[in-house]
Amino acid sequence: MQATTIPGDIASLSDYERYAREALNDQAWAYISGASADEYSARRNERAYGDICLLNRTLVDVSRGTTSLTLLNETLAHPILLAPVAYQKLAHPDGELASAAAAAAQDALFVLSTLASSTIEDVASISKGPKWFQLYFQADHEQTLALIRRAEAHGYSAIVVTVDAPVNGLRNREQRSGFRLPDNVRAVNCQPEQNGKVQAGESMIFQGLMSRAPTWKDVRWLKAQTRLPVIIKGVINPADVGIALGEGVDGLIISNHGGRTLDTLPSPVEVLPTIAALVDKKIPLIVDSGIRRGTDIFKAIALGADAVMIGRPVMYGLATAGAMGVAHTLRLLRDELELTMALCGCETLGDISPACLWQPARQ
Ligand code: FNR
Ligand code: LAC
Repeated sequence: MQATTIPGDIASLSDYERYAREALNDQAWAYISGASADEYSARRNERAYGDICLLNRTLVDVSRGTTSLTLLNETLAHPILLAPVAYQKLAHPDGELASAAAAAAQDALFVLSTLASSTIEDVASISKGPKWFQLYFQADHEQTLALIRRAEAHGYSAIVVTVDAPVNGLRNREQRSGFRLPDNVRAVNCQPEQNGKVQAGESMIFQGLMSRAPTWKDVRWLKAQTRLPVIIKGVINPADVGIALGEGVDGLIISNHGGRTLDTLPSPVEVLPTIAALVDKKIPLIVDSGIRRGTDIFKAIALGADAVMIGRPVMYGLATAGAMGVAHTLRLLRDELELTMALCGCETLGDISPACLWQPARQ
């Protein structure tokens, strides 16, 4: 059951998680909150932020404070983006339409998943706010291009190419729960995926799924097809950063997919300082996975991020109270970020630096 008002005892994102558990059935809960294999990375994502300590500043005038920023020519009121999350109608009948409307109401940039359960067009008509489209390469370039053209035609201002999930992670929790999509929830914007055909003796992974997986060649192809900025999502290994820069990508999202792909990857915030040094402010850096507090956002920015994205918290807000829950989730995080900035003596995001951290994780 979804609430029609925001429950009075919700004070933070973890409270939404508690309510979402009540609102969702066991299968949807396993899909949304679950991660890959033993879920080490998913736990580590949240813990890694707690392990970093802040250094406050006292008696600083922050009365002209602002959280605004410019990201790929977009002026944003704050650095909290909604990560692409598939099948949002699992959490609430209004799905992406509710979360996109909430994002617009809270001046937050919304990223629509290729696997959305609402159409590219319907989301665009409900939200005049800033929007990007997340791309999973389709079975052929023609189908991929059709998605890109629809996104371009409807005001999505960048393409986020997710590269860390050419095959699904080992979703053991999902498997144990017997999760399958209910009949009323499906990826409405694309053709159903065909199962890879393999010959006797061939591997379902190598010769099956991975033989159709995209490579840097496809990113190059995409760059040539669209004038929109192309952002790569799912980079963790610094070795991939130089290649991405060489290919001329317009932004990077440091992410381990919320721990949903390869388990035991480090948390993005742990690799961030190394990657930020390599990128050297040439292109924007966005971080996701495990952001649950304004202090987490502040720490990511201190270590070199320009902005952050949240995934599961959007679904928890949606499951608890629809668009209202998502809007409140975003507002809570933004208020927490402002409070953190104020107590650390930072008036702008540009003031947030490693000097705001006590014994920064890597220096
Ligand atoms: C995702 N994520 C995701 N990413 C993507 O690029 N395309 C997608 O369709 C999805 N789908 C999806 C579904 C669900 C239920 C979740 C929880 C996540 C990953 C998402 O964009 C983001 O990287 C993580 O959710 C970030 O971690 P947190 O904030 O959930 O800890
Ligand atoms: C997931 C896929 C859809 O994380 O990206 O479930």
